[in-house]
Amino acid sequence: MHQQACGTRTSTSEASIDAESRPRPILAFLLDLGAIASFAVAMLALIAMVNPAFADLPTSVPSAERQFELTRFVRQECGFCHGLRLTGGLGSPLTAQALAGKPPEALEATILYGRTGTAMPGWAPHLSEADAAWIVAMLLKGFPE
Ligand code: HEC
Repeated sequence: MHQQACGTRTSTSEASIDAESRPRPILAFLLDLGAIASFAVAMLALIAMVNPAFADLPTSVPSAERQFELTRFVRQECGFCHGLRLTGGLGSPLTAQALAGKPPEALEATILYGRTGTAMPGWAPHLSEADAAWIVAMLLKGFPE
């Protein structure tokens, strides 16, 4: 039925078909592109929601696993100088009270790049900016055990 309708049109006039049918593939192509693009965006959004590694990118919060690693890392490596309870030793105390009011960005920079002229080394080889930001946020709240 459908084919017959097409067939009759083809036989009527070649010129009118050219004018009518040429823009159609382009339109169909553009519609397809739009559909593919929105599908891709939807898939990326879905991946970002489902995959914690992707979800971390915009929010910059280390994964739960990484947070666990960081907690042990701070207790061991930083505790070496700042005291096992982070109440101070060779390094200054890192308790919430001691750090209260200090700008988080400055503390993050100290952790990542150290403090020249002091024993505080830079930890950028081991910690990302997100890691340092998380550590500072936790220190300011009172570091977890
Ligand atoms: C080798 C010893 C040493 C180690 C290890 C160390 N620190 Fe320090 N840190 C210091 C010293 C000393 C200071 C004080 C610098 C000063 O006098 O300004 C300091 C200062 C800091 C400060 C600034 C505190 C303030 O009141 O401004 C932060 C934050 C800090 N350390 C975090 C860390 C973290 C987090 C780690 C582990 C990733 C770490 N430190 C490991 C020696 C150390």
